[in-house]
Amino acid sequence: MSADCYQQLDDVLIFDSVTSTNDQLWQRLEQGLNSPAVCLSEHQTAGRGRRGDQWQSPPAGNLYLSLFWPFPANTLQNGLSIAIGIGLINTLKAYGIKDLQLKWPNDILVNRHKLAGILVESRYGNQQNTVIGVGLNFKLPTATRDKIQQPTTSLQQLCTDVPCRNQLAGHLIQNMIETLTLFQARGLQDFVPLWSQYDALHDTAIQLVSDDATITVKAQGIDENGALRYEHQNQIHTLSHSHVSIRFAS
Ligand code: BTN
Repeated sequence: MSADCYQQLDDVLIFDSVTSTNDQLWQRLEQGLNSPAVCLSEHQTAGRGRRGDQWQSPPAGNLYLSLFWPFPANTLQNGLSIAIGIGLINTLKAYGIKDLQLKWPNDILVNRHKLAGILVESRYGNQQNTVIGVGLNFKLPTATRDKIQQPTTSLQQLCTDVPCRNQLAGHLIQNMIETLTLFQARGLQDFVPLWSQYDALHDTAIQLVSDDATITVKAQGIDENGALRYEHQNQIHTLSHSHVSIRFAS
């Protein structure tokens, strides 16, 4: 991580085991944390994903990383997870990892297998306190893989030489800080044109699964706010809330 980025961090917390690295940062916030900080752990006992899912977090050398970022009160956060996802892909690409794609809003996939997930949590007050959690699979023991309801992959499966985890963590944190700084200044505008080159869903039949119904639609990229565009019954619609689960239809 560059000295410039390191200096922006109030704290770097490293643990053997926590409930969730996101929770650790929220607890620090309650104790007065007010500037960017990072938390990493070898193991999470209650790692969480989007839509209340569990994030399997065995002590197997994976990356469980969270970054706290206090945005000013008037920041428009639409599409933040998209900006972070594009940034993370760029860092992973620099390590020679190929065929990386993003599944809206923020799963990092290789050949439709999930390599990493991003969880953005925000609490609004005088400022928009935001914790961005990243789970990146280095190694997935079979027992863990069996518990995950979707195809997964890991750096161990993808790379002949698995990157050094500490070095990669440093680069990912640096990239997240740069992404957040750019996003805070300019919003999503610099990221939207990059989406199509990583879009795992482009022009693909997908299922939108909500509590009430499942519909099959065709994905059509994102709009300027980072909402998913999709075609259904010959009309273009957008989806901005992420409590809908998205599956490949075939
Ligand atoms: C998802 O794909 O559903 C998002 C997964 C995010 C997992 C990471 S691991 C580090 C941080 N701590 C958590 O409890 N969750 C995030």
